[in-house]
This record gives sequence, structure tokens and C-alpha cells, in this order.
Amino acid sequence: MLRRLGLCILPLLGSVFAQSGGPYIDPDNGVTFYGITEPAHGVTYGFVFPPLDQNSTEFIGEIVAPIAAGWAGVAPGGSMLRNLLLVAWPNAGKIVRSARYATSYALPTAMSGPVLTDLPSSKVNETHWKWVYRCQNCVTWSTDTGTNSIPVSSTGVPAWAFSSRAVQTPSDAQSTFVQHTDFGFFGLDFSEAHVSDSQYQLWASGGTGTGTLPPTSSPTTSTPAGPTSTVPAVPYDYIVVGSGPGGLVTADRLSEAGKKVLLIERGGPSLGFTGGSYQPDWLKGTNLTKFDTPGLFETMFSDDNSFWWCKDITVFAGCLLGGGSAINGGLWWLPPDFDFSPNYGWPRSWANHLPYSAKLKARLPGTDTPSTDGKRYLMQSADVTAQLLKPAGYTNITINNSPNSKNRVYGYSTFGFLGGKRAGPIATYYKSAITRKNLSYKPNTMVLNVVRNGSTITGVKTSDNVIGGNGVIPLTPKGRVILSAGSFGTPRILFRSGIGPSDMVNLVKADPVAGPLLPPQQQWINLPVGHNVSDNPSINLVFTHPSIDAYDNWANVWSSPRPVDAEQYATNQSGVFAHASPRLNFWRAYTGRDKKVRYIQGTARPGAASITTDNPFNATQIMTITVYLSTGVTSRGRIGIDAAMKALPLVDPWFTDPIDKEVLLQGLNDIVANIPKVSGLTMITPDNTTTVKDYVDAYSPASMNSNHWVGSCSINHVVDQNTKVLSTNNLFVVDASIIPSMPMGNPQASIMVMAEQAVAKILALPGGA
Ligand SMILES: Cc1cc2nc3c(=O)[nH]c(=O)nc-3n(C[C@H](O)[C@H](O)[C@H](O)COP(=O)(O)OP(=O)(O)OC[C@H]3O[C@@H](n4cnc5c(N)ncnc54)[C@H](O)[C@@H]3O)c2cc1C
Ligand SMILES: *[C@@H]1O[C@H](CO)[C@@H](O)[C@H](O)[C@H]1NC(C)=O
Ligand SMILES: *[C@@H]1O[C@H](CO)[C@@H](O)[C@H](O)[C@H]1NC(C)=O
Ligand SMILES: *[C@@H]1O[C@H](CO)[C@@H](O)[C@H](O)[C@H]1NC(C)=O
Ligand SMILES: *[C@@H]1O[C@H](CO)[C@@H](O)[C@H](O)[C@H]1NC(C)=O
Ligand SMILES: *[C@@H]1O[C@H](CO)[C@@H](O)[C@H](O)[C@H]1NC(C)=O
Ligand SMILES: *[C@@H]1O[C@H](CO)[C@@H](O)[C@H](O)[C@H]1NC(C)=O
Ligand SMILES: *[C@@H]1O[C@H](CO)[C@@H](O)[C@H](O)[C@H]1NC(C)=O
Ligand SMILES: *[C@@H]1O[C@H](CO)[C@@H](O)[C@H](O)[C@H]1NC(C)=O
Ligand SMILES: *[C@@H]1O[C@H](CO)[C@@H](O)[C@H](O)[C@H]1NC(C)=O
Ligand SMILES: *[C@@H]1O[C@H](CO)[C@@H](O)[C@H](O)[C@H]1NC(C)=O
Repeated sequence: MLRRLGLCILPLLGSVFAQSGGPYIDPDNGVTFYGITEPAHGVTYGFVFPPLDQNSTEFIGEIVAPIAAGWAGVAPGGSMLRNLLLVAWPNAGKIVRSARYATSYALPTAMSGPVLTDLPSSKVNETHWKWVYRCQNCVTWSTDTGTNSIPVSSTGVPAWAFSSRAVQTPSDAQSTFVQHTDFGFFGLDFSEAHVSDSQYQLWASGGTGTGTLPPTSSPTTSTPAGPTSTVPAVPYDYIVVGSGPGGLVTADRLSEAGKKVLLIERGGPSLGFTGGSYQPDWLKGTNLTKFDTPGLFETMFSDDNSFWWCKDITVFAGCLLGGGSAINGGLWWLPPDFDFSPNYGWPRSWANHLPYSAKLKARLPGTDTPSTDGKRYLMQSADVTAQLLKPAGYTNITINNSPNSKNRVYGYSTFGFLGGKRAGPIATYYKSAITRKNLSYKPNTMVLNVVRNGSTITGVKTSDNVIGGNGVIPLTPKGRVILSAGSFGTPRILFRSGIGPSDMVNLVKADPVAGPLLPPQQQWINLPVGHNVSDNPSINLVFTHPSIDAYDNWANVWSSPRPVDAEQYATNQSGVFAHASPRLNFWRAYTGRDKKVRYIQGTARPGAASITTDNPFNATQIMTITVYLSTGVTSRGRIGIDAAMKALPLVDPWFTDPIDKEVLLQGLNDIVANIPKVSGLTMITPDNTTTVKDYVDAYSPASMNSNHWVGSCSINHVVDQNTKVLSTNNLFVVDASIIPSMPMGNPQASIMVMAEQAVAKILALPGGA
């Protein structure tokens, strides 16, 4: 059941972005493999199976990679979680490889069961490394949630992962490594990928040659059949692309103003009232989904049916109604004045955010007592953290009562929830917008590019070719397009519309699907789209304290929650499950040696994502404090796309300025300094064998990601003060990407305040519909 759902989503993506695999003959060994050479890194992944009717549990596979690849891996079953993962890299002229397995988005560890045999055509030469292997006991395996397998008799969507960074210890097959720098999927008809028994046995024993290709009639790269019927392409005054925090505020306010609005979202429903239905057994009979239920937040990262993540963005991003707000931690901070200050890159015309903050607060004030009974649950980590902060002069406040107080303050975590359920922009702005006749909502539809004639946008090209026969939705004569596809999604649409740095647009030009949709080269618009992005670098400290109930680190909340808590939530939307995992937040200001002021933010919660210590500890007593560098962070990176049109960080934005690192380290040391003042408190990561400095120095960049990306279409650089894309007449951006530097806290409420102000400016701008 669960797997089926995943596969329904992926082929859809496949048709838009990814290639389909097919047969090829490896010239070195003559084996007929079924697979692809993915274009982004030039890595080949192939498989071939014994005859289907043998019900065999083995196959032969290969990975051929340019020598620059740090490591490469493949999941024939198509997802990282609970799947056979085959990982390899070169070392001293030989291939080092392993079968691995993961139950969360963390480093996969050794998988027992598979038996790997390297075949003789494996090699490392000056330009490439090549691993050719026989994998026995590799087609079916058991998992903690049932049995999983490679779909050997049907179509599947294998996943690949690639890293440009070398593993930690290349000589060790079980070496640790940091997260892949890129990944992707390809469609493969496994039912075709079988050869005769004699042929298979020859190759499996190291024999070569005699591979043949099947008759050319086999459908691998043929163009999809044309639409069988078309619907008329109705024009709109405003087309809003993406239903995250930016897009929902925008679509609601535009339709409220009487404009004829189309809201397009690539994903499907989320909260129960929007048609979402994905829920654990213990919520059956209610309308409460995974997305409604705050206490299921941590399961977003440990569920193998993770249809909500954007599969074509290499960092976490939500691709469903609500965007990130449907799957995030729900933290909800009314913005301080700093968030719109000219000192942090805003035009002066934006500084008075108060009327817009008031509009947001009127729709959703946020609450630090999310449970419907007004009580707080599982608060031990808040109490312990407060004891740690008080000796450093912190005071206790209700955070959203004084948004400008951000120096040495702490308070209970505040959430954008209503009635014990996730709300955010979905149960507020979307809820009112969807009732208006002036708003049409089109889910499960991807916008590929805007259609333009020079600087004038005439419509959007979608993945739904039934519309008008070519997928193009037009604008009315004075119509406008508003991109709200997020910090990665919006730049990709711009690149695919011929707007952005020429290296990115040239990647689009080279793509067989996207290239022909570009405007002529003389109409390309060179803007720094993707440059100057920012995200909060964040570092976790893990502690134990005898008072803590770690809540089993949230591991059982989906399949076997504590019965009393589950029943209380299902019946009354009260109790532990009415909170997401955070319990307390704090801020402090620092002045760096460059005289710039930077703030740190902290978030405390029960449980821990990762622990590194050889000392014994009591796992039922663990808690985490995540410390972020927030407003004032100066490091910048770059995001873009690869040759497969996947969106990814090109230059990581964390600690490119060494002073950012110094300040965050100072913040961590100041927290740690008061541990002796809290009786029973022990820090276990880093533990007593590691200094905080060494811990920070060794921290993997990918783990520093806070998923708070801003700045890829920064105001003043890519869009003007009215959020209009420079050098265009009627193209706007309203999402996190226009924000020029990091807001004070987790950004969703600040993004929505920004959108309130942006949509007011757009409506006031002459020339529109
Ligand atoms: C795991 C995680 C936890 C987080 N926790 C918090 C938190 O606790 N508090 C907080 O304030 N912030 C949090 N954030 C950050 C917050 O969710 C984001 O900053 C915010 O959602 C960004 O809003 P947006 O409107 O710019 O874009 P998004 O929320 O990314 O929305 C973009 C939307 O556009 C759609 N889309 C993209 N491309 C296309 C296309 N081509 N065609 C059609 N539709 C498209 C997407 O499906 C998506 O729905 C978290 C983020 C993540 C990933
Ligand atoms: C393979 O499985 C099918 C269905 O279970 C069975 O009918 C067939 O006999 C099996 N073949 C072999 C070679 O075991
Ligand atoms: C190295 O091996 C690859 C893959 O088989 C091959 O394409 C390439 O030509 C080889 N390079 C050299 C220098 O022999
Ligand atoms: C949009 O709404 C306004 C006011 O609600 C109404 O007057 C107008 O007819 C509507 N326009 C369309 C195209 O539906
Ligand atoms: C679920 O939602 C439907 C439609 O909104 C409603 O009719 C039904 O009463 C709800 N069920 C529960 C258990 O709340
Ligand atoms: C903050 O102070 C209030 C009032 O004194 C108190 O009820 C609350 O428990 C304190 N909160 C924390 C996190 O210490
Ligand atoms: C594009 O715009 C120009 C004027 O800027 C106009 O002359 C031309 O007809 C337009 N082309 C199309 C296809 O609409
Ligand atoms: C990048 O940001 C810096 C300041 O942080 C600014 O000086 C510069 O102009 C920005 N460049 C772009 C292309 O946005
Ligand atoms: C739900 O709330 C009611 C009213 O407070 C209470 O009587 C009942 O026991 C609660 N049910 C559960 C399962 O907690
Ligand atoms: C670290 O703490 C452990 C107890 O958890 C103790 O046994 C050990 O001696 C300590 N090591 C150092 C270097 O202090
Ligand atoms: C671990 O902590 C729990 C809860 O505080 C306690 O019941 C248990 O005895 C502890 N276990 C050990 C081995 O100390």
C-alpha cells in the first residue's frame, strides 16, 4: 500500500524531468545492462536479472563514474529509506564498496543479507572507476515495517546518489561519509531487464561478450503519446505559482481584491480539510492526517513513503499544498523590526512592516499553549534549558508579545497552530481563498516556465498538456504572473524561462525537453538569480538530564504511540501530540570582531537526531539544543540547477565568513559554560573527550542546513521594490527567495508578512489587471 503511493508520484516527476532508462551494451564486458548514464555527472547505473520465472533473488549491476566522483550509489528500489543501497568509490586503484541500509535520512549503515561479488571488469583507470558486481540475496529484504523488494516484473524508479566529496576513510568499506551532493531518479522497465539463464550464468561467473540489444521496437525513449482530449486554456488576471507561505497569502489577497486568480501547485493535498488522507492507524476515523498532527513532525524524516518532499531538489523542501508550511516544525515568530531593516538589505520603502505584521497576527496569532486544554505537555527540556540560560542573564518572556526583544530572552516555543492542529497559511489564507469564485486552484500541476515575448509574460507552460493542447495557460491582456515556488523552485522556473546567469540558462538550453522551450538567446535576461543565498548554520548539542522524558526520540509515534497520548489527541486534539517537538526558544546578540551584530537562536526539544559518544548514557533522558546563527549572518552561497534540471546548492552558504563561525562558537561556549550550574545535566555530544571547537570544526556542512533558505531572487538585485523581476513588465516573485538576508527566527511568519506587503504593493502598481 505505502509503496504504491510512492510510485504513483515518482513516474509523474519522471515524465517531467528524469530520463527513462533502457538497454545498453557495456563495451568492456559485453554485458547487456538496463539503466542510464545520468547527464549531470556522467555516471552510468545498470542492472541485469536472471529469467523472471526463476524467481531469483540476485542480479548483476554496475556503476561507472568519472574519477572526480567522491562516491556514487544506487537504490534499485527507488527510495533511500528501507531499501538496498549500493555504494562505491575508488581507493588505491581498487573499488571499495558496500551494501547499506537506512531507516532515516542519515548515514546509511551496513546491510546484512546481500552477498556482493566483484566481477573482473571492475577497474580504476585515469579517467573513470567502474564497479561491476553480482548481488545475491538482493531482490527482497525484510524491514521494520514489512517486506520490500525490487519490482523485477514491472516498472520501477531507481534512485541514484552522487557526491563530489570523498568519504572519510576511503580504504574502509564501512567508512562514514557526508550526505550526497546530488541525487536523482530514472524510470526503468525491470520486466525487460532479464536475460536467459545461460547468458546470466556466464556473466555472473565473470564471462564476457555476446550481449545483444532487444529489438528496437521496445519503448524506451519514444516521445509520450499526445493528449487524447484538450480543455480550453482560460486566461487569468493573476497566475500564482506555488502554494507555500508566500503563494497562499498572495493568492488570498489577490482574490479578495476581486482579481481573477489561478493558483497552481505541483503537489497534492496536505491537511485533512484540503482532502489529505495520509494518517497512521491510530487516527483512522478522524480527519486528522500526518500533516494536521503536530506531534508527528519528527516522522517526516523517518517515513519511507515520503511523497511530500520535492524529489528534484537536493535539500528538504515540501512539494504539496502549503509547501514547507505543511511539513515544517510549525515555529511561528512575529517579525521584529530587524527583519525588514535597511541595514539587512531591505529598501527603505519596506521598513514599516507593522501594518502587515498586524494583518498576519489577525489571521493567525500563534500560540505557546497549542493543546486544546490549555496545558503544556512534555516540558522537561524547557525547564532544563531555562535553568541553563538564567545564570547567563537571560529573562523569560512570552516571545510573540514583544517581537523586538531578542537579546538574552527565552520563552516557550510558539506555533502557528489552531485547535491543536497545524494551521499556518493553509487553515487560514488558503481556507478563505478557496471559497471565492474568483480563485481557481489547480493542484498536481507543475509550471515548467513562463511564456514570454521579450519582457512581456503572456502565460505559463505547465506539465498538463491537456490544457489548450500544449499546457499553456494564458494571461488576460494586463495580466501578471507571480512566482511563489520557493527559494529553489522559483530560480528553476526563471532559468527555464531564460532569466538568470548564462551558465544556468545554458544548462537549460542543453536539455532535450527544457531547451526548446527557451525564448531566443537575444531575449535572455542576465540577472544574479541563485547568487547570495543564505541559510542559518545550525549546530546540535545533545544532553542527558534525569528529569527528561525523551519520548523514545519520537521513533514510535507513527506506528505504536503511547496509547493514552494517542487517544487524548485523537479525541480532543490535546496532549503531547498537539505540540511539534520544540519546547523552548531563546535568542542572544553578539558583536563580532568585524563590529557587526549577529544573533543566535536556540531551540530545545526532547530526543536527538544523532549522538556521538563512547561514554555510556541513558537514552531515555536525551534532549537537544539546536543553536542557529540568525539575523546578521554574513555568509553567502549559491544555488542553481544541474544538467538534469535538478535544483541544488552550488556553493554552501554556511561559514563562508569565518566570523560567522567564531560567533556561533562563542554562543555555543556560553551555553556550555553553565552546565555545571544545572545539577544532573551532562552533555553527551560533544562529549567530554571533544572540545566544542573541535566539534564545530568537524561538523558536516550538510548537517548545518536549517532549511530556511532565502535570497536567491533578492530584492534590489533580481526583483525591484515592487517585487517585479527586473527587465520584465509583468513577472513578480513573492516567496522566501526575495528576502535579502536571514530573518530573526524560523522564517515562515516573516515570509507571510513580507507577502502581505508585497501583494499590497503589486495591487497598488499601475498597469495591472
Ligand atoms: C524540514 C523543514 C522544517 C522547517 N521548520 C520551520 C519552522 O518550524 N518554522 C518556520 O518558520 N519555518 C520552517 N521551515 C522553513 C519554511 O517552511 C520555509 O521557509 C517556507 O515554507 C518557505 O516558503 P515559500 O513560500 O518561500 O516556499 P515553499 O514553502 O517552498 O513553497 C513553494 C511551493 O511551490 C510549489 N512549487 C515549486 N515549484 C513549482 C512549480 N514549478 N510548479 C508548481 N508549483 C511549484 C511547491 O510544491 C511548494 O508548495 C522549515 C522548512 C523545512 C524544509
Ligand atoms: C516462481 O513463483 C511462481 C509463483 O509463486 C511459481 O508458480 C513458480 O513455480 C516459481 N518458479 C520457480 C522456478 O521456483
Ligand atoms: C577508463 O574507463 C572508462 C570506462 O570504461 C572508459 O570510457 C575510458 O575510455 C577509460 N579511460 C582510459 C584513459 O583508458
Ligand atoms: C471577481 O470578484 C469581484 C468581486 O468579488 C466580482 O465583481 C467579479 O465579477 C469577479 N470576477 C470574475 C472574473 O469572476
Ligand atoms: C471529516 O470531514 C468531513 C468533510 O469535511 C466531515 O463531513 C466529517 O464529519 C469529518 N469527520 C470527522 C470525524 O471529523
Ligand atoms: C516563565 O515565567 C512564568 C511566570 O513567572 C512561569 O510560569 C514559566 O514557567 C516560566 N517559563 C519558563 C520556560 O521558565
Ligand atoms: C512580441 O512583441 C512585439 C512588440 O514588443 C510585437 O510586435 C510582436 O507581435 C509580439 N509577438 C508575438 C508573437 O506576440
Ligand atoms: C550580495 O550581498 C552583498 C551583501 O551581503 C551585496 O553587497 C551584493 O551586492 C549582493 N550581490 C547580489 C548579486 O545580490
Ligand atoms: C476529552 O476531553 C473531555 C473534556 O475535557 C474529557 O472528559 C475526556 O476524558 C477527554 N478524552 C480523552 C480521551 O482524553
Ligand atoms: C568522561 O565522562 C565519563 C563518564 O560519562 C567518565 O567515565 C570519563 O572518565 C570522563 N572522561 C574524561 C576525559 O573526563
Ligand atoms: C534511565 O532513565 C530512566 C528514566 O529517568 C530510568 O527509569 C532508568 O532507570 C534509567 N536507566 C539507567 C540504566 O540508569
